Amino acid sequence: MQRHFFNADEINISEFAALCSQTVSSQDYKFSVDIQQRVVIYEGEHIQALISTQQAFDLKSELHHCIKDGPGIVVVRQAFQDLKVIDRATEIFKEIIEEEKTSDQHRGDHFAKVGENERIWNALQKFCERDPEAFVAYYNNPVLRFISEAWLGPFYQLTSQVNIIKPGGQAQQPHRDYHLGFQDDAIVAEFPIASQIFSQLLTLQGAVAHTEMNTSAGPTLLLPFSQQYPLGYLAWRNPEFIDYFSQNAVQLPLKKGDAVFFSPALFHAGGNNTESSDRIANLLQVSSAFGKPMESVDRSKMTKLIYPLLLAGKQAKLFSPEETKSVCSSVVDGYSFPTNLDLDSPLAGSTPETVQGLIERALNEEWPIERFCEGLDEATKRRLA
Ligand SMILES: [Fe+2]
Repeated sequence: MQRHFFNADEINISEFAALCSQTVSSQDYKFSVDIQQRVVIYEGEHIQALISTQQAFDLKSELHHCIKDGPGIVVVRQAFQDLKVIDRATEIFKEIIEEEKTSDQHRGDHFAKVGENERIWNALQKFCERDPEAFVAYYNNPVLRFISEAWLGPFYQLTSQVNIIKPGGQAQQPHRDYHLGFQDDAIVAEFPIASQIFSQLLTLQGAVAHTEMNTSAGPTLLLPFSQQYPLGYLAWRNPEFIDYFSQNAVQLPLKKGDAVFFSPALFHAGGNNTESSDRIANLLQVSSAFGKPMESVDRSKMTKLIYPLLLAGKQAKLFSPEETKSVCSSVVDGYSFPTNLDLDSPLAGSTPETVQGLIERALNEEWPIERFCEGLDEATKRRLA
């Protein structure tokens, strides 16, 4: 019988090295514009042009293949084409950090000494609350939604954390991310290997560059193909693996507005910032409808903040349906469950209406703001036991 449970003594550096030595064939990535250091690179504008075409599923397959069975990393050059949107968000992030510094609740970064780096937890909600208009302009980005759906399908939940690495900020230790990257080896070993592997398929890690990131600014070090090692969640703390990482990780310069997406199982680490200015990234963590996100977010509050803008935008024809849907996907919990099935019975189909569905109906019928907020409160209440 096949074994399903393993412990940290069973990791094997040669198996890991063999997987991490694979090469990338450009024939597998026909939509890409470049491959550098075994990282597949796409152009934001090009992805956007294909979203509503018959090639969309082929492109999604290619992106999914790259993250799961390929090197595990996708870079999108100019995922944001309007850099004013990025700069406005950066200003807002800096304001939030200044305020949080003087607040008792400031906790710093879990990888660095307080003062060396700055981090905004739940930056998604804080950004939305501080400036809903700038928030909508940032998250109405169909490229972000397309890549999230390529990895997770629809109904995902977005969270975001802002990371500012000060000049002199030190590199992180290589690690894997959420879910199992936050657990001790003994806990990881309690999960059957199938769960260790499927947990990787429930999250997408992303980072949007808010500053120019030459390699001297320390953009994330990434080890291509390392996500394919089945026992990786038991291996990333091991000195041999750390050594292999430091010899073989790659680091790609990013420009402001570029984004990188990777498997949470990929071995990675933020680099040293040896420049004289801050390195700023908006870290996106996208969670499958079938997983649990890492942060709690007041999504109803955010939905009420963006609805007036979406309604005005629709009436003034400011946003395409794709853009509207992209903002909504970034804000709402788009899945029907868990719910209270006594109160929230399925409609004509087989699932109760989602909040996304409610927003679409409200926008189509141009509900006034008050009516929408009442409708949302009722829908939220119906889902509670
Ligand atoms: Fe990480």
